Amino acid sequence: MVDCIIHNEGLQGYDGIRQSYPICRKKTNRIRYLLFLLKGFVLYYLSCLIIRLVLWRRFVVKHKKKSKMPEKRVVVLTGAGVSAESGIKTFRDSGGLWEDYDIMDVATPEAWERNQELVLDFYNQRRKQLYEVEPNDAHYALVDLEKDFDVQIITQNVDDLHERAGSSNVMHLHGELKKVRSSVDERLVYDLDGWELKPGDRCEKGAQLRPHIVWFGEPVDMIPAAAELSNSADIYVIIGTSLNVYPAAGLVSYVRPGTPIYLIDPGELSVGHIPGLTFIREKAGTGTKKLVSELKKDHT
Ligand code: APR
Repeated sequence: MVDCIIHNEGLQGYDGIRQSYPICRKKTNRIRYLLFLLKGFVLYYLSCLIIRLVLWRRFVVKHKKKSKMPEKRVVVLTGAGVSAESGIKTFRDSGGLWEDYDIMDVATPEAWERNQELVLDFYNQRRKQLYEVEPNDAHYALVDLEKDFDVQIITQNVDDLHERAGSSNVMHLHGELKKVRSSVDERLVYDLDGWELKPGDRCEKGAQLRPHIVWFGEPVDMIPAAAELSNSADIYVIIGTSLNVYPAAGLVSYVRPGTPIYLIDPGELSVGHIPGLTFIREKAGTGTKKLVSELKKDHT
């Protein structure tokens, strides 16, 4: 009897376990199934979210690109003053080049006819010095301006400091010191190797090579293009020029009425009334840096 009871209890106990086992497994399967469904939903929503984010980003970038304002054009007319802080003398300041030399002796076709050696030597000295100097803050500020504006430089300078600083668009009105050309055919222009151009250095036509410089009394071939550029300016900037030498000094008259004009120069204002002119009486380095940051601030 006792055995039987024990046995039965044992059986009951055993059956109890056995009976409850399928219920437990069913529950576990259901939970697993629910978890599986939940995982599926979460994965589905996450992937939807990621796809939406990617599409949204693409749309925003595309839209931004499309709606980007066209770049404003800044035309910059530079003179000797922009290179002064690099150590190159200006022409008409006190201590300037034309105090030591007579223009008529070194910078005219007549001077070339009279004394080629003197003219060659004058430009050789300028060229030699150019290899010893570096661009300054003003040149670099104009390069920086290119990040936000279409910058076009018209320079009266014959040095290559704008190019060496990294400016992309530089038009030389008065020639280039590091180039030479044939004295019988002005289309034959060459890069000079080194600083010295010697008597007897000849072009392919056998003629003496001369500096690739526009001398006083010679036509300034780049003026029509420079006038057109000046006319296309949204902002006009003049740096370090006495505006004494024409036709370059007349370029400002091609600027469209209403265009803001800035003149950076530490000297006295040497021009008459120019409508829309803001005179920044500072050296090129500090003045140009300030103006560039102002223009950038207004632009953004
Ligand atoms: N920063 C800015 N401007 C300066 C600085 C400086 N650190 N130092 C001097 N200047 C200014 C002077 O006040 C002056 O107004 O630079 C100007 C230099 O004037 P010029 O010597 O007349 O030089 P520029 O106007 O370039 O001459 C025009 O004349 O002899 C020809 O062909 C040559 O291209 C040259 C042309």
